[in-house]
Amino acid sequence: MSHLLPLSRVAKLVGQPRHTLQEMIRSGTLATFDGMVELDELLRAFPEVRWDDDAEFRRVTEIKDKAFAKRVRERALPDKDVLVARLNELGGDYAAAKALLLHYGNVMIWLDEKIEELEENASAETHHALHTVRAFLLRNLAETPPDAVLAQAVIAQERILKLMSAHVTIQPSGHEFYVDGNDTLLEAALRNGVSLSYGCSNGNCGDCKARVVSGEVKKVHAHDYVLKQAEKDAGVILLCAYAPVNDVVIEANVAEARDIPVQQITAKVKSVEVFNPQMAALHILAPRSQRLRYLGGQSIQVRVNGVSGRYAIASCPCDDRHIEVQIPHRPDDAFAEALFTTLKTNDTVELEGPFGEFVLDEDSPRPVIFLAFGAGFAPIKSLIQHAMSLELAESMDLHWLADEAGHYQDNLCRAWADALDNFNYVPHAHRDDLDAVLADIVLDYPDLHRFDVYAAGTATQLDQARAHFVRHGLPGARWFAGATDTY
Ligand code: FES
Repeated sequence: MSHLLPLSRVAKLVGQPRHTLQEMIRSGTLATFDGMVELDELLRAFPEVRWDDDAEFRRVTEIKDKAFAKRVRERALPDKDVLVARLNELGGDYAAAKALLLHYGNVMIWLDEKIEELEENASAETHHALHTVRAFLLRNLAETPPDAVLAQAVIAQERILKLMSAHVTIQPSGHEFYVDGNDTLLEAALRNGVSLSYGCSNGNCGDCKARVVSGEVKKVHAHDYVLKQAEKDAGVILLCAYAPVNDVVIEANVAEARDIPVQQITAKVKSVEVFNPQMAALHILAPRSQRLRYLGGQSIQVRVNGVSGRYAIASCPCDDRHIEVQIPHRPDDAFAEALFTTLKTNDTVELEGPFGEFVLDEDSPRPVIFLAFGAGFAPIKSLIQHAMSLELAESMDLHWLADEAGHYQDNLCRAWADALDNFNYVPHAHRDDLDAVLADIVLDYPDLHRFDVYAAGTATQLDQARAHFVRHGLPGARWFAGATDTY
């Protein structure tokens, strides 16, 4: 009987991003069946993987060892009811496999007896043939083929993954992610950059209602919002209160920029990070009960001690309660002046937003070029992190055209390039002749028609850049621009 594994589970098992596997499927080096990978095919396509490496077991042991603090252990391991339910399911699988094995054993005994019986009255030639078949069967049953040992190791790894995390598919968008530890469905979705509808995140508002299409979920947090009996009968749950027991399919709306309401939130300054005299970042911590819903690339209004300004968000929606805005030090900007001089940790910040529609086209499988002009790096950083969390693009190239503030997060960009096979970083030093720089960049892309381009900078820089890219073959509809001087 064949053992089929979903592509995303294979990605976890072999330690490769999903888009790498998709590329292998496209090039014919990995065969799939209805989006699933057969165990034999997995072993064939990844001969170099050490399936007997018990990294996942070690990870769990390490977590336990380090988890002298109960809170850490609670967060890293699934909720105990969920764990029991998953163990039950594994127990069921084990019992079914054992029953099947017993049945096959009985069939083999019957076959052996039957051959022996037939041998008694057979001609010499048939007797010899039956004897050979019987010897073949007995020999093969007695020894374990090397592939079976590998298959056993893969299945063992897969079982551990299934125990520690459940796979979630969102319909109709097709987003996929894993729920690790004791995360709820909502927490895991946000951590993976999937923008589902929600409000309070603690069971009061009902905004995170969704329907379970298949699979089993378990309530892990009590909630005050009351679901009607008809909703419960239809499989409706609150994503902020439930965790998956096994692999589930959930029907829920994934928000686009225009679906996300403008929110007002009172938060705290977590820290001020001054990169250099021209540029600083404000790190904000939203309250546990009121996180900010936004998409990568959007902007927010921030107000502290009577001064305010609207800036690009530089963090990822997957960053939990952390929000980062990057602010250039301009003499006419009172908020920037406060940031560089008086703002301090724990100051109260009023947030309003998000604004803007400079967001990822999540339906596009095309390779992406990111163009950041100076402080336009902030929304580009947010988009890049969001694209990484969604594992969206086949490849990402970042061109950062510096202004006087320089490449103030150069190390971060280099770290992305080191860590990801599909990420390239090209810093461009500050030059007055922008046209010359842009002309050089487009020359590197003779096939611009295949790409999406996301660019952020001043309206003038964007107009100039768009002209170069479109002239060299980029379809106009694949140009996405976020002007940083028109917030
Ligand atoms: S987000 Fe409010 S009930 Fe789930």
